[in-house]
Amino acid sequence: MKEQLTAADAFARGGDRAELALLNHPRLTQPQLDFCSASDRFVLWDGGNSIGKSWGHAWDLVHFARGTHPLRQVPRGTRKLMVAGFSFAQMDPLMEKLWAMLPKGEIHPKLYFAPGQGIKGFKEPVVTFTSGPGRGSTIYLATYEQGANRVMGFQGHRCSMDEPPPSSVYAECRPRLNHFRGEMRVTMTPTPESPPLEYIRKEVEDGKIRMIKTSYNLENITIRGGLVPWAWATAAQIAEDIAGYLPDERPMREHGDWDPVVAGRWLERINDTCYTDDPFPEGRWFLCVAADHGTRPGRQCATLGAANAEGDYWLIDEARTETVTTTTEDAENILEMLQRNGLTWREVDHWVGDRSTSESFYGAAKSNMDLQREMASILHLSAREAAAQGLRFQTMFKDRGSLRRGIALMNTMGARGRLRVRRACAGFERGAKEWAGDLNSPLKDPLDSARYALMTLHDRADVRKVGTFGAIS
Ligand SMILES: Nc1ncnc2c1ncn2[C@@H]1O[C@H](COP(=O)(O)OP(=O)(O)OP(=O)(O)O)[C@@H](O)[C@H]1O
Ligand SMILES: [Mg+2]
Repeated sequence: MKEQLTAADAFARGGDRAELALLNHPRLTQPQLDFCSASDRFVLWDGGNSIGKSWGHAWDLVHFARGTHPLRQVPRGTRKLMVAGFSFAQMDPLMEKLWAMLPKGEIHPKLYFAPGQGIKGFKEPVVTFTSGPGRGSTIYLATYEQGANRVMGFQGHRCSMDEPPPSSVYAECRPRLNHFRGEMRVTMTPTPESPPLEYIRKEVEDGKIRMIKTSYNLENITIRGGLVPWAWATAAQIAEDIAGYLPDERPMREHGDWDPVVAGRWLERINDTCYTDDPFPEGRWFLCVAADHGTRPGRQCATLGAANAEGDYWLIDEARTETVTTTTEDAENILEMLQRNGLTWREVDHWVGDRSTSESFYGAAKSNMDLQREMASILHLSAREAAAQGLRFQTMFKDRGSLRRGIALMNTMGARGRLRVRRACAGFERGAKEWAGDLNSPLKDPLDSARYALMTLHDRADVRKVGTFGAIS
C-alpha cells in the first residue's frame, strides 16, 4: 500500500467539523460526479481498481441518507437504506469511507468503527441518525453470508453494494425496493474470482440497470475546479499499478472489463537475465525446500530456494522426475538435490509442502507427514528426532488468492532484478516461459513448488525483518 495521507486523514485531523467538510466541500472526479448525479433507479458503476468508486459511493450514500444530496433529488421523510457485501471484512473499504463521512454528532453515540468488522455498536449492525437533517433515517448493514434472512421483509429506499453481487443477492434485493420505488447502486471491479456476472451483464443489455464504465487513467482520477487540478496518483504510478496486474485480469482491473482474457505467459516479468549458471554465492542465506505433491507421472516437484537479508532470492535446484514416484523416492530425490549442491538437510531453514493430495488412480496419497517420515527413515532417525532437529514440513496455507499473489510476487522479484534462477531449475524455466494460466497443465507444478519456496522465504520474519519487498497484494 502507498503510505500517503488521504484526504480523509487530513480532514479527520481537522477537528469536530471534519466530516461535514468532507461532505459539504468535496472535490469529486468527473466519473464520481457522473455516478453521484445519476437519477436512474438502478445504477452500476463498473470500473478499474483505485478509481474512487468506494469514495464516491460513500459520499452519495451519506447525502442520500441525510436527504442533503446537492446533485439530485432523494426521497423525503425518513429513509431506510441497506448496504450489503460478502462479509464485513470485505466491506471495509466502503465502511471506512462511510465512517469518515458520517457526521458523528448526528448518529447514535454508541456507534463506532472497528477496522475489518465494520460499523459496530448494535447487535444487528445498523447506523441510525438521531439528529440533524437525516434524523430518523437508518442504514442497515448486511452480509451476503447472512443470506436472505436479513434482507427478507426489508422494504427500503436504497440498496448499496460495493462488490459484484451474486445473482441470488441481486435478485433478492430488487423486490425489496418496490414499495418505495427505491434505488440500487452497485460499484465494482470484476475479477476472475468474482461470482458469475453474466446475469448483470444481461440486465445492462436489457436496459434494466444503467452502467457507468470507468478506466483507471490520469484523466479519471483528476479532480478539477479547485486551485489546481489534483490527482491521487501520477501517470507513472498508474502505469506501474497496471503493469503489476496479472496479464489475464489486467483489462478487468484497468477498465472494469467483464472477462479475463486469454493472455500469454503469466510470469512475464521473469526474463532471460534472471537465469544463470553462476555458482551460488557465499554469505548468510536462508534456505527453503518446498514440495508440490503429485501422484500422476512427473507431477511431484520439490524446489530448493534461498534468500538473504538484502532481499535477493535464488532458485537453486529442483527435484523432479518424469515417472510416478513413491514417497520414498521423493524423499531420496530431495536429499540428493541437497547433496549435489553441497548442502546437508540440517542447513535447511524451512521445509514446506502443499496440502495432501487425495488418493488417485496412479498411486497412494502423499502428504507432508509421509515425506517427513521417509526422509527421517533414510537418515536413520526416528520421526521425533528428525522433527526435533528441524526436519518438519509446514503445510502451505493456501486461500483463493494465493496463486495470484505468489505469481505477482515472483513477477515483482523478476522486474526488480532480485531473482536469480539456476539453469538446473529446468522445470521452472519452461513453466515461466510457457505457462499461461491452465490450472491442469503439468507446466504448473515446478512453478508451484518454486512459488511456495519464494513465498515462504519472503514471509518469514527472519528474512523479512531485514527488509524485502514489503506487502505484495
Ligand atoms: N474525491 C476524492 N477526494 C480525495 N480523495 C479521494 C477521492 N476519491 C478517492 N479518493 C482516494 O483515492 C483512493 C482510491 O479511492 P477508492 O478506494 O474509493 O477507489 P476504488 O475505485 O473503490 O478502489 P478499489 O478498486 O480498490 O475498490 C483512496 O485512497 C481514496 O481515499
Ligand atoms: Mg473500492
